[in-house]
Amino acid sequence: MKYVKNIVLKNDKKCLIRNAVGDDAQEVLNIFLLTHEQTDFLSSYRDEATFDAAFEKQFLTDKESADREVYLCAVVDGRIVGTAGVDGKGENKVRHRAEFGIGIDKDFWGIGIGRALTAACIECAKDAGYSQLELEVVSDNSSAIALYKSMGVVEFGRNPRGFISRFLGWQELVSMRLELN
Ligand SMILES: CC(C)(COP(=O)(O)OP(=O)(O)OC[C@H]1O[C@@H](n2cnc3c(N)ncnc32)[C@H](O)[C@@H]1OP(=O)(O)O)[C@@H](O)C(=O)NCCC(=O)NCCS
Repeated sequence: MKYVKNIVLKNDKKCLIRNAVGDDAQEVLNIFLLTHEQTDFLSSYRDEATFDAAFEKQFLTDKESADREVYLCAVVDGRIVGTAGVDGKGENKVRHRAEFGIGIDKDFWGIGIGRALTAACIECAKDAGYSQLELEVVSDNSSAIALYKSMGVVEFGRNPRGFISRFLGWQELVSMRLELN
């Protein structure tokens, strides 16, 4: 799916939300590794990443041409500072469900990028014909939960042993969903 939008952030800087493409592979890999070391809210750690820029290039090329998937990036001052995406499964019984994920460089939190990327993914998921967007979020991730709730995403369950953090032990996961039609 294709997506492109220019926005102005809370700090008055311009930000471009667009598809990440094959040529972005190294930068997208870098931001993936950075976000996975900056927070304990994601589902894996930086040192667990097994893919390289060549794999990333193919991944992004496939995403760009997929009808029902999208992988977006936020570009500020010519640099990719965050990514978000929507995935789905093909089987008939579950093809109405879109899965959402997002990660932004900590230096760029709190200025509107998360909201813009989330809104863009919701738009893409609707355009792709999904009827529900779903995500799981660590219950301590208050800014993410506030963001999702403000966009109409609602909690439908909790898994007290969703993740085991290297640092904190069990992390509770909140399951959330947004009906799209
Ligand atoms: C969660 C995350 C995506 C939010 O992105 P962001 O760019 O900081 O968010 P925004 O600046 O667009 O803020 C959106 C909303 O989030 C909430 N929010 C942001 N920062 C917050 C904070 N420090 N405290 C409470 N709420 C906060 C607010 O509701 C805000 O809305 P508002 O601007 O109207 O007040 C970002 O912090 C991130 O990438 N975190 C690490 C990875 C992660 O946790 N991913 C989610 C996994 S489910």
